[in-house]
Amino acid sequence: MNKKHEKIESDVPKTDDMIELRDVSKIYSMGGEKIHALDHANLRIKRGEYVSIIGPSGSGKSTLMNIIGCLDIADEGIYLLDGLEIKQYSEKELAKIRNQKIGFIFQGFNLLPKLTAEANVELPMIYQGIPVAERKEKVAVALERVNLTKRMQHKPTELSGGQQQRVAIARALATSPALILADEPTGNLDSKTSAEIMKLFDELHKNGNTIVLITHDDSVAAHAKRLVRILDGCVQEVPA
Ligand SMILES: Nc1ncnc2c1ncn2[C@@H]1O[C@H](COP(=O)(O)OP(=O)(O)OP(=O)(O)O)[C@@H](O)[C@H]1O
Ligand SMILES: [Mg+2]
Repeated sequence: MNKKHEKIESDVPKTDDMIELRDVSKIYSMGGEKIHALDHANLRIKRGEYVSIIGPSGSGKSTLMNIIGCLDIADEGIYLLDGLEIKQYSEKELAKIRNQKIGFIFQGFNLLPKLTAEANVELPMIYQGIPVAERKEKVAVALERVNLTKRMQHKPTELSGGQQQRVAIARALATSPALILADEPTGNLDSKTSAEIMKLFDELHKNGNTIVLITHDDSVAAHAKRLVRILDGCVQEVPA
């Protein structure tokens, strides 16, 4: 194991900020035209906060989520996650950081269709090398937490949309990541099922999870304790 890996594991955060973006830009070049998907974005999110990022289609929400989630690297500016400056890490190291620190929840659930709910939750932990007994225990706890213990042998097609999203949430939670990042988690759900999922997020927040929720829906965003608006790549705090 090299020095950087040791640093990731032994890093003790020095500030309350889990996320800090300083003048972060992401620029796409399309046929001579430059698109500022993120334009000098500044944002700080503390440990334990529940923040919604809201903005219309094309405003830069997923671009911001990809950078916060270490799925992409900023072209300009500095991004610190738990005090680590992200751009210095290789793709392999970033994968490790993602595994250790972040639980992702997407609009399309992203479950593997051939696997049961139980196996879908377990799979990332197999990749992380977690021993089998510990894995089974974590899967059971996570599925219990989203109230799906009775459905653990079901495959995604045998589950409702809301249940599929709950499996995805259990998968994101299973390893107790410091940060939960959700991109339009209710985008494919009807309003009643959305309310059920949002209640689950409220509970996660009460239990101390740091949540960043990306949405274009004001009623979904209203669940968060703080709103951040994004428009044409520009990030703006919404006063309480
Ligand atoms: N890979 C890419 N290449 C070129 N342009 C891109 C790329 N990804 C995103 N963009 C552009 O960057 C801008 C922001 O895109 P982004 O996906 O972040 O928006 P969004 O707010 O998530 O939208 P939506 O609500 O529709 O998901 C858009 O103008 C988009 O066209
Ligand atoms: Mg998007």
